[in-house]
Amino acid sequence: MPLRSKLPHVGTTIFTVMSQMAKDHNAINLSQGFPGFDSDPKLLELVAKYTREGFNQYAPMSGVPALQDVLSAKTARCHDYEPDPETEISIVSGATEAIFCAITAVVKPGDEVLILEPAYDSYEPAILLSGGIPIHIPLKKGDFSIDWERVISSVTFKTKAIVINTPHNPSGYVWSSSDLDHLAQLIRDRNIFVISDEVYEHITFDERKHLSLIGHEELREKSFVCGSFGKTFHVTGWKVGFCIAPPELMEEFRKIHQFVTFSTVTPIQHALAEYLKTPSNYESVSEFYQKKRDFFCQGLKTTGLEFSPAQGSFFQMASYGHLSDISDKELAERMTKELKVACIPVSAFYHNGQDHKFIRFCFAKEDSELQEALGRLEGLKRIL
Ligand SMILES: Cc1ncc(COP(=O)(O)O)c(C=O)c1O
Repeated sequence: MPLRSKLPHVGTTIFTVMSQMAKDHNAINLSQGFPGFDSDPKLLELVAKYTREGFNQYAPMSGVPALQDVLSAKTARCHDYEPDPETEISIVSGATEAIFCAITAVVKPGDEVLILEPAYDSYEPAILLSGGIPIHIPLKKGDFSIDWERVISSVTFKTKAIVINTPHNPSGYVWSSSDLDHLAQLIRDRNIFVISDEVYEHITFDERKHLSLIGHEELREKSFVCGSFGKTFHVTGWKVGFCIAPPELMEEFRKIHQFVTFSTVTPIQHALAEYLKTPSNYESVSEFYQKKRDFFCQGLKTTGLEFSPAQGSFFQMASYGHLSDISDKELAERMTKELKVACIPVSAFYHNGQDHKFIRFCFAKEDSELQEALGRLEGLKRIL
């Protein structure tokens, strides 16, 4: 009996494809967004301690209270608003789960949801599975800032939600306070919810501050703010994230979460609760990555690629359209096979595969690996 797919257009993600290609061709993998180094040994030791001490059974559905409490205090410290740990914070299995549960809680069949493209690939399938209609709005050419006029003109009486992402993957764009005010104006007097993907909240550069929607009085009333400890502490494989939302939204969010995963890995939640008590553990992350961004961008200058240094995230985009007409997919493939450096073709972040001749590198790697990759990228002149 044939199974009619609910997601007929979804295949293997580009991240899996490129990582596999990197492996097959023994290339340096600057494609997928995961760090090439380990976390702080203190955090690893805390996980070992809590597993040894017997914290190995189901955690409470909404999270380990100690972690909810410390996340509330951290939110107050960073964004001047202290969410109620019991009713406004849930710990979940990665930001991917947070985004999925938030979209599922809000979207009903026929609802339109605005997505700003290029966009992370998990938003659209979640919308489709709820019977929603994704409405794609391109970010501005050049700096990938928000084209607010286009956003406003895309709103209809069917618009139910907007998904936003700051700092942005893949462009690194960081929202300004004027972006937040535009969004507040957009949803004012309308029944539009916001799903805010803030997984790179602790990776911003050049003194830029991450402005969470939690810190905006009007926006937080209608927003699900989604975050990821995996991104902040170099432990993407742990898949531990969170969602912060007002009680009435969180109540619906939890109805979904309890039947998706029910609860999230217990000893790691206890370890994070202890580790987050020391603010320097998360406040030092931007400085750590800024050194890597600067190092990588310095080297990129000699490759012939054009780029503006990322404002945030651990990705650097670069364009090559002034050098060649080949597609970004072909370039990514040739770079992997011939130069032994894997990257992501940015067309993969567009629903219709639009090719603006951009590639994305992940610079969350050891400096020696970045140095080696930059040396190999000198060969770009040969293949372009
Ligand atoms: C923009 C963005 N959102 C969400 C995620 C997923 O986060 P997590 O691993 O916590 O599910 C990623 C991971 O690459 C991402 O880049």
